[in-house]
Amino acid sequence: MDKQVDIIKATATDANLKSYEEARSSFDWTEVEKEFSWYTTGKVNMAYEAIDRHVEAGLGDKVALYYSDATRDEAVTYGQMKTNSDKFGNVLRKLGVAKGDRVFIFMPRSPELYYSLLGSVKIGAIVGPLFEAFMEQAVRDRLEDSQAVAIVTTPALLPRIPVADLPHLKHVILVTDEFEAAPGRVDYKNEMAQASEQLDIEWVDREDGLILHYTSGSTGKPKGVVHVHNAMIQHYYTGKIVLDLKKDDVYWCTADPGWVTGTSYGIFAPFLNAASNVIRGGRFSPQDWYNTIQRHKVTVWYSAPTAFRMLMGAGDDTVNQFDLSSLRHVLSVGEPLNPEVVRWGLKVYNQRIHDTWWMTETGGQLICNYPSMDIRPGSMGKPIPGTDAAIVDDNGNVLPPNRMGNLAIKTPWPSMMRKIWNNPSKYEEYFRLKGWYVSGDSAYMDEDGYFWFQGRVDDVINTSGERVGPFEVESKLVEHPAVAEAGVIGKPDPLRGEIIKAFISLRAGFEPSEELKADIAKFVKIGLSAHASPREIEFKDKLPKTRSGKIMRRVLKAWELGLPTGDLSTIED
Ligand code: WTA
Repeated sequence: MDKQVDIIKATATDANLKSYEEARSSFDWTEVEKEFSWYTTGKVNMAYEAIDRHVEAGLGDKVALYYSDATRDEAVTYGQMKTNSDKFGNVLRKLGVAKGDRVFIFMPRSPELYYSLLGSVKIGAIVGPLFEAFMEQAVRDRLEDSQAVAIVTTPALLPRIPVADLPHLKHVILVTDEFEAAPGRVDYKNEMAQASEQLDIEWVDREDGLILHYTSGSTGKPKGVVHVHNAMIQHYYTGKIVLDLKKDDVYWCTADPGWVTGTSYGIFAPFLNAASNVIRGGRFSPQDWYNTIQRHKVTVWYSAPTAFRMLMGAGDDTVNQFDLSSLRHVLSVGEPLNPEVVRWGLKVYNQRIHDTWWMTETGGQLICNYPSMDIRPGSMGKPIPGTDAAIVDDNGNVLPPNRMGNLAIKTPWPSMMRKIWNNPSKYEEYFRLKGWYVSGDSAYMDEDGYFWFQGRVDDVINTSGERVGPFEVESKLVEHPAVAEAGVIGKPDPLRGEIIKAFISLRAGFEPSEELKADIAKFVKIGLSAHASPREIEFKDKLPKTRSGKIMRRVLKAWELGLPTGDLSTIED
């Protein structure tokens, strides 16, 4: 290879995965299946494997959850997790909620969120976690599409749930000390206090629904990605070989359970591996974050590039005020991890930051850097044992090394999504190239099998690692009285990866102004969510459109980047 590649050598000789090459060559998923109790009993439930099994194995007093925020600081044992999730399962059963029903969880991080989520899984319900920043339209779309029967929430978020318009939503379970009764409302604390600790777990099929994560594409409303209990095989295994979790690890995943990282790797992988799991509520702050690592002696830390860039921005002096020597393994996901950040991590944390690639749809990690593997800063790593990735052209032909193309994964793998809720044709689109899952990312693979991310092939925006669909934002924008048309793109940003930029043409009678920009941004923030609100707005007399009237985001992006606009033959005028 003539290209100069920077390599950071592997040092972890005690890693769970000793040799990547060896593991890949002899890999067999059924060997992983043998680790689960259902392999012998035939009785399947993710929550049982994640919690109850460890209690039965004598780990009842081990800390499962270290929870802290500005007002709470609690340690919850595996035994207590079992009891509380069992109780919540009974609360749901008493309400008539049954296997296959959709139960949403819409609340800030708290121990109750974890009890509710695992309790729902125990009765076979399909859990829909919602990020706490979602506003009414976003909540409505998701509850309507999934026909959810119950939602667990807090009084502060209650006004964003349009209960009157959601006839199938029968139960609003409120986690509060000041419960006010109303039809359909359930007092979480009161019901939990009365609930039995004996739960008959609902044994399910490995292919039964587990979790429903709504995520964005470039067209249409967010789609409900359905994962099944079988995903535990991959969650457990990647928890072991990628997160490198061992018996005494204190693990911290900084993602919120409203996003897939916060469930697959904030709940399932660490609990399946019987780790002690740190959950921090509240907002990002470098001091609080470092303090969390110092106080809990975090050993394995999974975070995201935007957070690392913000920590880098907070300066080396901030790092030096804390004792972070407990850290032994650091990982990143969600957006491209800059080589500069990797080198900085090595300097200030004395840790290699291991990039990992996967998506909501893949359910679990797929292309990763392993503790026992040399890191090439800027590369996402190599496919996990038991899976295959390739760069393919638009016809599904595998391209040779160093050629850019579609990042595709050979189907299937254990945690692969099983359907898009209510939308079989959307599901099929991902598998249009026979034998491959088409990710929507473009990448290339080097001669040594390392994968390098290049970008999205569609219009999906990745801002601070959060995936935003331009259509959802555009739909909200045009509801504003001043907005005639809107086109939304991701604009490159050194800190957030991308920011949301909206191009807007105004209705007659409205004049461009800074106040109007602020008002429009606020409209999206209040109606949809803060992270989907455009940070930049530019007014245009006209937006580029196809003859069929579709706004051409590709042209908007080219304008923004000062690039040639390409083929405009389909443009309106
Ligand atoms: C992007 C998050 C570069 C990618 C788990 C993907 C990444 C989308 C990486 C999925 C990475 C994720 N390097 N880009 N290591 N990991 N992405 O569904 O574009 O929220 O398609 O899942 O994030 O985002 P999602």
